[in-house]
Amino acid sequence: MNTQAWINHFEVNTRLNDTMVLPDGPCTLPDHERVPIAASLATFQLGESGSGSRLRRYSREVAPLENFRGYQRAIDLFIVEEQSHSQLLARIVQRLGGTLLEKQWTNSVFRRLRFLVNLEFAIQVLLTAELIAEVYYGTLYLRCPDPAVRKMTQKILRDEMKHLAFQREFLSERVATFSGIGRWLWSLQFQIIHVITTTVVAWDHRHALRALGVKPADFRQRCIQAWERWQAKLDQDVANHDFPQSLPRAEGQNAISA
Ligand SMILES: [Fe+2]
Ligand SMILES: [Fe+2]
Repeated sequence: MNTQAWINHFEVNTRLNDTMVLPDGPCTLPDHERVPIAASLATFQLGESGSGSRLRRYSREVAPLENFRGYQRAIDLFIVEEQSHSQLLARIVQRLGGTLLEKQWTNSVFRRLRFLVNLEFAIQVLLTAELIAEVYYGTLYLRCPDPAVRKMTQKILRDEMKHLAFQREFLSERVATFSGIGRWLWSLQFQIIHVITTTVVAWDHRHALRALGVKPADFRQRCIQAWERWQAKLDQDVANHDFPQSLPRAEGQNAISA
């Protein structure tokens, strides 16, 4: 894993969130849009606000591995970037006249789930949230006319696309060490958890989605498609990892048959 490239990326990129100037002027969204969107954003704000202490602790699991040298530093910076999202979202929730949350049930489930098993599972649960976030922020960017919401969602969306690539680079190297059946089972349980989670999130945010003119069922479907695209890229990455390992064997086979 090219951890140094990720360290460089996060060090430069997160500062752009910290210094972001949002457009001035009052929010002109009508109440039937503003209120549910503010409530929905408050849930995402809480989700991005974790301290990351357990993720940091888990990341020590791979610290002794040569190909993950620097991963702990990259994870530290990744967590700081997520916290910068939380701060940006808090500014937007306040702009929309919403109330910041300290606790919310879907967020609590996410946090409990994330730390049940090991680092790979923690990253996987995080990924589910990021795949949903990709669709969610994209929907807000396209459908919410408030200029501050659009500026914020455009930047967070860009960051989340990078996060998806960051997690994919990590997981592709880990999944490449699994057996064939292990990979299949891992992908299956990931898909099942993702589908259940998207169903719950689409229902939980139904008022905001409808205010944006999106049916919750369509949102859910787009989140599932986001998982399919991501998983296809992971499969490709894992296949590429396999290639250098199988190359000497293939050469040996050629030598024998020649
Ligand atoms: Fe985020
Ligand atoms: Fe993220």
